[in-house]
Amino acid sequence: MTRRVKWSIVGACAVLALVAVGLFAWHKHAQREAAAAEAARLEAEAVAARAALYAQFGIDVPGTRLFVPLPPGLPHHMGRAKIGQKLFNDRRLTASRVSQGLVCGACHHLGAGGTDSRIHHDILTRPVYNAAFATTYLHDGSLSNLHAVVGKMIEEPHFSWGGPLAGVAARLSGDAALAARFRSEYGDDGLVGTNVVDAVVEYLKTLVTEGTPYDFWCAGHTDSLNPDQRRGSEVFLAARCMDCHDGPVLGARKVSRGRKVSALRGLRLRTAYLTEGKIKDLNAVVPLMPGGEALPPEDRKSLVEFLKVL
Ligand code: HEC
Ligand code: HEC
Repeated sequence: MTRRVKWSIVGACAVLALVAVGLFAWHKHAQREAAAAEAARLEAEAVAARAALYAQFGIDVPGTRLFVPLPPGLPHHMGRAKIGQKLFNDRRLTASRVSQGLVCGACHHLGAGGTDSRIHHDILTRPVYNAAFATTYLHDGSLSNLHAVVGKMIEEPHFSWGGPLAGVAARLSGDAALAARFRSEYGDDGLVGTNVVDAVVEYLKTLVTEGTPYDFWCAGHTDSLNPDQRRGSEVFLAARCMDCHDGPVLGARKVSRGRKVSALRGLRLRTAYLTEGKIKDLNAVVPLMPGGEALPPEDRKSLVEFLKVL
């Protein structure tokens, strides 16, 4: 082989190698661009989904905001809600033969976050505040409709023990003034079981925990939370609590491991936690949560400070 041929081969190899390296780099670059485009697409999708979710509740916020204040009340029918408010503490919802007659308010203490923080038939009372924002109800998430929940609360022995709705409506019908109010709010149907439930649901829509320091902070008043609480909000995001505790009330929208993901809004008013209600200390809940067990103590502490302002 002449020297010249040898050098030609070496040159050709070098060119080929350069082309290969170039192709590889270009491929990597294209891969990175595709991944970035996919991430941007997913983010845009998440932003649009969030905006649509909040719009459903009449909350108008930029979809990019993760923490969002609750609106001062939800749209509701005022006349019907007034009847529902009365029924919430009305013994006639419970069967007359049950001596203690458990009205809704006996277990759902409005001054304590909408719960008595007590166990009834092995289950902790869930708060009634913000119930209208939920899309899944009861400890196992077995119901997804607030009317169905209220019907169950009125009819079943574990709760108010009112018996079949038709019987409840018949008992209430003895009250001529109440029957007239039902007729004026609901038309000809008037005082029937489904309308009794509906009036209570309209009332529940008025029970919203808005106006907390957290709400003001969400709305842009930075100083409403102290630096430790603000740091806790960052831990909340970093620990991915929002994977489950999301939406307007930070939860109540899905089931995880057979349990309804609790709404965290209004948490500061409650004094017992998790379905069994045995845990009375928020500090003890965090390590039990996915993403909570591995947190360093100082992060855990800030996180709990944040949970207390919700
Ligand atoms: C004996 C106590 C008791 C009475 C009385 C009672 N509740 Fe409840 N309520 C509970 C318990 C306990 C739960 C949780 C049940 C579960 O998780 O399976 C609950 C859950 C609820 C929920 C679901 C909250 C959620 O986010 O999942 C609503 C709404 C509710 N009750 C409304 C009412 C109304 C309205 C009345 C009156 C008609 C009423 N309750 C009467 C104890 C009671
Ligand atoms: C994989 C889903 C999931 C993740 C992630 C998650 N949680 Fe939960 N969380 C739940 C479920 C489910 C419950 C209700 C359990 C029960 O009722 O026994 C709950 C309940 C709670 C409660 C008790 C609320 C109450 O009223 O009883 C707190 C507080 C809480 N979570 C905080 C957090 C924090 C803080 C994080 C992040 C470190 C977190 N969670 C991450 C699913 C999750």
